[in-house]
Amino acid sequence: MAIIAPSLLSANFLNLEQDCKMLNESAAEWFHLDVMDGRFVPNISYGPMIVDFISKATTKYCDVHLMIEEPEKYTEAFHKAGADNLTVHYEACKHLHRNIQQIKSLGMHAGVALNPHTPVDSLKDILRDIDLVCLMSVNPGFGGQSFIGQTLLKIKQLKEMINEQLLNVKIEIDGGVTLENAKLIIDAGADVLVAGNTVFKSENPFNTIAALKAIS
Ligand code: DX5
Ligand code: ZN
Repeated sequence: MAIIAPSLLSANFLNLEQDCKMLNESAAEWFHLDVMDGRFVPNISYGPMIVDFISKATTKYCDVHLMIEEPEKYTEAFHKAGADNLTVHYEACKHLHRNIQQIKSLGMHAGVALNPHTPVDSLKDILRDIDLVCLMSVNPGFGGQSFIGQTLLKIKQLKEMINEQLLNVKIEIDGGVTLENAKLIIDAGADVLVAGNTVFKSENPFNTIAALKAIS
């Protein structure tokens, strides 16, 4: 059964308290929180302050996805804000191994995200040090984009790498996940489905989360 991780980015920010309540009662296990700096990606979202409010309002696991340059400068701040998992981008880290160690030393789970153009092979020598790989199935920066089909192949390749090394690393798919393609993504080997627009732009987000969970 895959984990469902609704993405706050697509929520109505005037309604965050209600959305947290809805999420707490829903079948989702994680809350996916997207941090953007306007440098690594061409968009700005929110930072530790909002994560802090959300982590206090939700009973769910807070999965924080940093789409920022120099993420090492903010590891501590997101730890204090209540992140359970901190994911950094492979493309944003000169010293990825050090950044992972920093995250783990604070007691958080560590994830690495790959942009659509970055091959999964790039993680060969760090896979055993991390808890999660976030495969971007859109170019990061915005919700509501279409799923890039090549990701299905990447999921299968990554799953093989994980199994070969007998590791317990989760594969998360982020971007363009819908009720229509969720089964294909899970069958390819995904463990976590992030869903922004599919959940929060639907008529009944609570029911949509249940529908995603039922597929998984
Ligand atoms: C995109 C973010 C995603 C986004 C997904 O850069 O990392 O988490 O919220 O949104 P949807 O599911 O609408 O593609
Ligand atoms: Zn994300």
